[in-house]
Amino acid sequence: MELFVEWEDKYSVGIEKIDKQHKRLFEVINRLYYSRGNKTHAVLGETIQELIDYTKTHFTDEEQLMHKNGYRDYEAHKKKHESFIEKVKKFNNEYQKVGDDLLEEYSLITEVLLFLKTWLCDHILVVDKEYIPLLIKRGVK
Ligand SMILES: [Fe+2]
Ligand SMILES: [Fe+2]
Repeated sequence: MELFVEWEDKYSVGIEKIDKQHKRLFEVINRLYYSRGNKTHAVLGETIQELIDYTKTHFTDEEQLMHKNGYRDYEAHKKKHESFIEKVKKFNNEYQKVGDDLLEEYSLITEVLLFLKTWLCDHILVVDKEYIPLLIKRGVK
């Protein structure tokens, strides 16, 4: 079965804890991809909530690591995380409203999945990779 977002070596940042969290985010996105159209509104809603909750956990961990190590672009990075969470929450509100219309629900989730995939992959490759060298220099594994 082909995955919607597939983990590749290029996404690895070289810090095990961060890689693990990114992989788990990929996993939740893939689950949402395969659930749309064949799971109930409630189950899909739970997956979306799980995505929001786990993303928050991951962002908090990343922000703590950046802050503790005196990363100079900490504030800008944190703002990017915050606007992402805002977007996903907005989507979640929209999703709650289209409950009875399966087709609308399906196309809304599909649109959001593309956003999630693009945002997360770009964020890891560009934005996250910027703070990693500092952490590696500080001995974070
Ligand atoms: Fe990240
Ligand atoms: Fe990040």
